[in-house]
Amino acid sequence: MALREQLQYHNYRYYILADPEISDSEYDRLFRELQALEKSHPEFASPDSPTRRVGGFAEKTFSEVEHRVPMHSLANAFAFDEVERFDSRVREHLELEDGEVEYIAEAKLDGLAVSLRFENAWLVRAATRGDGRKGENITHNMRQVLAGATRLRGPSSPEVLEVRGEVFMRRDDFERLNRAQRKRGEKTFVNPRNAAAGSLRQLDPAVTGSRPLSVCCYALGQVVGAPLPNTHWEIIRWIKRLGLPVSSLARRVAGVKGCLEYYREMLKRRTELPFDIDGVVYKVSRVDWQDSLGHTARAPRWALAHKFPAQEQMTRVEKIELQVGRTGAVTPVARLTPVFVGGVTVANATLHNRDEIERLDVRVGDRVIVRRAGDVIPEVVKVHKAARKRGARKFTFPKTCPVCASAIVYEDGGVIARCSGGLYCSAQRKENIRHFAGRAAMDIEGLGAKLVDQLVEGELVGNVADLYELTLEQIANLERMAEKSAANLVEALNKSKRTTLARFLFALGIPLIGAATAEALAAHLPDLERLLAADQETLQAIPDVGPVVARSVLAFFDEPHNREVIDKLLAHGVTWPAPQPRSGNPGGAFAGKTVVLTGTLSVARAEAKRMLQSAGARVTGSVSKNTDYVVVGDNAGGKAEKAGELGVAMIDEEAFIGMVRGGGD
Ligand code: IVH
Repeated sequence: MALREQLQYHNYRYYILADPEISDSEYDRLFRELQALEKSHPEFASPDSPTRRVGGFAEKTFSEVEHRVPMHSLANAFAFDEVERFDSRVREHLELEDGEVEYIAEAKLDGLAVSLRFENAWLVRAATRGDGRKGENITHNMRQVLAGATRLRGPSSPEVLEVRGEVFMRRDDFERLNRAQRKRGEKTFVNPRNAAAGSLRQLDPAVTGSRPLSVCCYALGQVVGAPLPNTHWEIIRWIKRLGLPVSSLARRVAGVKGCLEYYREMLKRRTELPFDIDGVVYKVSRVDWQDSLGHTARAPRWALAHKFPAQEQMTRVEKIELQVGRTGAVTPVARLTPVFVGGVTVANATLHNRDEIERLDVRVGDRVIVRRAGDVIPEVVKVHKAARKRGARKFTFPKTCPVCASAIVYEDGGVIARCSGGLYCSAQRKENIRHFAGRAAMDIEGLGAKLVDQLVEGELVGNVADLYELTLEQIANLERMAEKSAANLVEALNKSKRTTLARFLFALGIPLIGAATAEALAAHLPDLERLLAADQETLQAIPDVGPVVARSVLAFFDEPHNREVIDKLLAHGVTWPAPQPRSGNPGGAFAGKTVVLTGTLSVARAEAKRMLQSAGARVTGSVSKNTDYVVVGDNAGGKAEKAGELGVAMIDEEAFIGMVRGGGD
């Protein structure tokens, strides 16, 4: 039967090759389909069906180990009502009339199951789950992973203790491993689970030992020579006391309500956790109840895996397009047949850069796995090359910008592609205008992406200053533009002219200047004239402004075209509240005084200067008889000497700050 074979094939890809071709959810779908078919047509059921086995195979390269107590899988649920039905079944079976069942809720780690056999405290055998009855002997590899935990802690250990758990890889370890693999030109892994599987199933234990694997234990297998605890909660605590890692996320919960609360909480916390979890697991805590409930061929009746929406899905690449950003960065994007993944419908996925597209070798028409984890931009993580249509052409990165045909230049060792067209490139112009109109920038309400496209394509607007030259008539004449919306836009444009210096600076789109840096620039150099004239040193004296950012500001203001746009914007009436008067501040402690700074102060020179200016001082560079004060810092040299000679008043930093703050002499 085709479906059965399909599942068998995918089991093989997943368990043996650690290189699945389909997403987990696609697998789950096939699995459920087969289950339903077998249920409605019992004549098709067969004892070796994948629905009756746990899934894996015993691989030939490792020796085989028989599990004394079978390693079961878990029944899956996706919807809340399936959890309710599970709880009803449990209660019915136990003939419970009222009261809630105590469940232990745990995170469902996304790794692979292992069984660790300890005899008289020593690890004697470690095995993968295999098909549930027989697994692979991975003792040598697990010794590497467990490092110090190959002997149980504590005064008394049972004759035999089998502990079951999950081997997994933390996300940060996974990223690091993939980076290292890429650097060495070796195979990278699709996700942490595959990396864990691939690392554990190495023939050379030293390789496993070099991989950052983690373990978390959550169940027992065979136990000889010690009484079993009464509850699963006690079991976890016992495992922990024996010195093996257990999860700190496990919790005792009451009934369905407690289960679902835990589910919601974990779903929320999912992306903050340092490792992937693909759902939660509910387990009836009382061990006598577990025994009474028993298990099916595949899974215990006393436990349920409640899965999260999948973060990976299979879909098709319809187009590969290049997006040109505001600063000219050219990013390849895959346009996909929309799929529901990670809780939203995804139609676009980033292909990052030229290197990544080459590494993936993704082509138009390919079946791919897309991943959307948390709020991260969806990405293509795997291409199903075996299913590629013949004649699919390799994607080559162009030499020229797809929008304006300017040359593409490569930065960062060839990884980052940038269109050299600058504002000649309409894509960059559009992005620039969108940024200018954005909420954190000039906040021009109603000027959305589509409208910007129309304005640029209709050549009504070439740069941001042109926005303020638009007439009501021009706007109203645009396609799909209602009279009222046109009037609203004119109104919004006028309103946006009253802004703040920080917003204005941010809106200009100076490379590397985000909203926070724009705030810092405006706070320290609140006068645009001075800001435009500032040199590298002055800029770098501002907190958060390093040499690279300072150079970016200088380069931007050096560009005549940018100066022209700024002048035009001001001419069109863009304005912001005037800064506090800096010289001649009549109320300031230094009103009308001429001050010179010398030596090292605990505040940056530019900061001290700004403080003086806002207290009314004129700050000059050299001492003369017209100087009123010299502020003397540490290691002051010639200027302090000169002040002494001329009889100019000298004050130290403390006095200076006291005057600025106190407002008096
Ligand atoms: S209990 C007798 N608890 O999920 C029940 N399994 O889909 C044995 N898994 O084979 C499993 N976290 O590899 C259990 N907290 C957890 C788990 C967990 C992850 C894995 C395990 C199992 C699979 C079933």
